[in-house]
Amino acid sequence: MVELFGIKLANSIERDLYEKALNFLPNETKDKIKRFRRYEDSLMSLTAELLKRAIVCLKLGINNESVKFNRSAYGKPYLEGHEDFHFNLSHSGSWVVCAVSSKPVGIDVEKIKEIDLDIAKRFFSKEEVSDLFSKNGDEKIEYFFELWTLKESYIKADGRGLSLPLNSFSFRIENDNIIFTSNDEPRHFFFKKYDIDKEYKFAVCSMEPQFPEEIDIKSFEEVFEFLLNNEMLKKFLKRN
Ligand SMILES: CC(C)(COP(=O)(O)OP(=O)(O)OC[C@H]1O[C@@H](n2cnc3c(N)ncnc32)[C@H](O)[C@@H]1OP(=O)(O)O)[C@@H](O)C(=O)NCCC(=O)NCCS
Repeated sequence: MVELFGIKLANSIERDLYEKALNFLPNETKDKIKRFRRYEDSLMSLTAELLKRAIVCLKLGINNESVKFNRSAYGKPYLEGHEDFHFNLSHSGSWVVCAVSSKPVGIDVEKIKEIDLDIAKRFFSKEEVSDLFSKNGDEKIEYFFELWTLKESYIKADGRGLSLPLNSFSFRIENDNIIFTSNDEPRHFFFKKYDIDKEYKFAVCSMEPQFPEEIDIKSFEEVFEFLLNNEMLKKFLKRN
């Protein structure tokens, strides 16, 4: 079963908590997070790092210090020493979401914003462009972001990211059914979209067919507490 977790940062986090939370991360990751010019971007990146660490500690029963992430040649993050533990992250606006699965998985969240829909002609398949421009008024922008998040979830599950041509595969959404076609050799991918926030679109792709009905939503503070307890438990076990 795919599992989904998310954090929506409704308010900004106090600087003090931000600094304390940084200490759960290895120096290299801390430096990367501190390099963001805008505090909001730095905070979102920190939130994503904390969420993914907490999930790994929780699911695998290991302590935070032994969690080591690496990236594939295409940039897809994986957990060193646990290559069969599949996860993926996405962030946009105030949301950070993470998917976990026993098979390759990809997730995407996008904040819906006004854009020039002609961009679809550059990135989407011919069929997708034709479906998109057949929609009325506001439906167009909604449909654009539904297609976009599905496409991103697929390239992220596949792992090749943008080196997989975005027009080499196609989605059609008909009465909430997601129809997927691809020029690649047939492989079984399953998709689900989530409508949990009207300003955003969410999509998940996995080679595993079972998806939850909902995303398990946590707060920044909850995730921080979890990692703090994980650290205290480790200290306690060391003493005994
Ligand atoms: C990097 C990419 C995989 C996702 O980018 P994105 O949608 O802008 O950003 P998201 O927040 O959803 O995902 C970023 C996360 O995906 C993960 N990721 C990076 N490369 C990945 C890959 N090859 N496969 C799977 N996951 C990947 C990382 O965890 C990354 O976060 P981090 O850099 O903070 O660790 C890639 O698809 C991209 O650059 N997209 C640009 C958007 C675009 O032009 N889309 C076309 C519209 S259809």
